[in-house]
Amino acid sequence: MKSTLNIVANPLDKLPNILKKNLDKNLCVCNEVLKMDIINAIANGATTLEEVKKKTYATGGNGCCTRQVERLIECICLDKPK
Ligand code: FES
Repeated sequence: MKSTLNIVANPLDKLPNILKKNLDKNLCVCNEVLKMDIINAIANGATTLEEVKKKTYATGGNGCCTRQVERLIECICLDKPK
């Protein structure tokens, strides 16, 4: 695991408010993957787009949600100010 990664107990604490909305809705509409499921996958160690895709199937459709998933990974995994 890379030293820059900082997985936290509650991944929602790492998200800016705007990304905390619609947690119970599909973020990936192509494959019907809930936003919360993607957040949990990231918090449980899926720290790359490929790993999130493998665990949840998000981004596996047209890839249209790729940028949103990347943003969640950035917020949850990297120690950046919000
Ligand atoms: S919405 Fe996720 S691949 Fe299209």
